Amino acid sequence: MAVVLYFDHSQGQTTGNTVVVAEKIAALTESQLVPLKAEKSYPEDYQTLLQVTKAEATNQARPEIIPLALDWSKANTLFLGYPIWWGRFPRAVATFLENTDLSGKTIYPFCTHEGSRLGQSVTELQQLCPQSTIQTGLPVRGSKVQQSDQAIKNWLAQMTVN
Ligand SMILES: Cc1cc2nc3c(=O)[nH]c(=O)nc-3n(C[C@H](O)[C@H](O)[C@H](O)COP(=O)(O)O)c2cc1C
Repeated sequence: MAVVLYFDHSQGQTTGNTVVVAEKIAALTESQLVPLKAEKSYPEDYQTLLQVTKAEATNQARPEIIPLALDWSKANTLFLGYPIWWGRFPRAVATFLENTDLSGKTIYPFCTHEGSRLGQSVTELQQLCPQSTIQTGLPVRGSKVQQSDQAIKNWLAQMTVN
């Protein structure tokens, strides 16, 4: 069983970029789509969000996450998606990775960004999940998520070959 898990900080009706890519991957791979959310609410105001998340990055914060109702023993493959924040994945993703035993599983990281591509996220993923197989990541520019179908298909095809 494969799972597409993506970090989502949107409030109410607002939808983000990462969910668009996550939905496409889930549809193409017939995987279960699961949002990963922090217990806390992140500010909707962009400048305030920058301040709050900058502080989290600096303080190496580990925000609490909403528990996931997933049986990890049945999931061998994890597509892990996130927006790049300050060159890395959001700190709630670090919380998830540190609290979940993903040893023996294959992780396909993907992100949306506005220039940093995958940043330091894959390096940090390898550090936090030394017992997992980390595949080549897929970076998608946030403003281009609606046109990302071909890039996703190429990425998935490359994975099947390897
Ligand atoms: C707090 C914050 C920090 C960000 N830091 C970066 C960054 O370091 N590099 C980058 O390329 N984009 C950065 N971005 C842009 C986001 O990665 C990009 O807009 C992404 O598509 C947002 O996805 P979402 O709508 O799913 O949250 C940042 C955005 C926010 C809100």
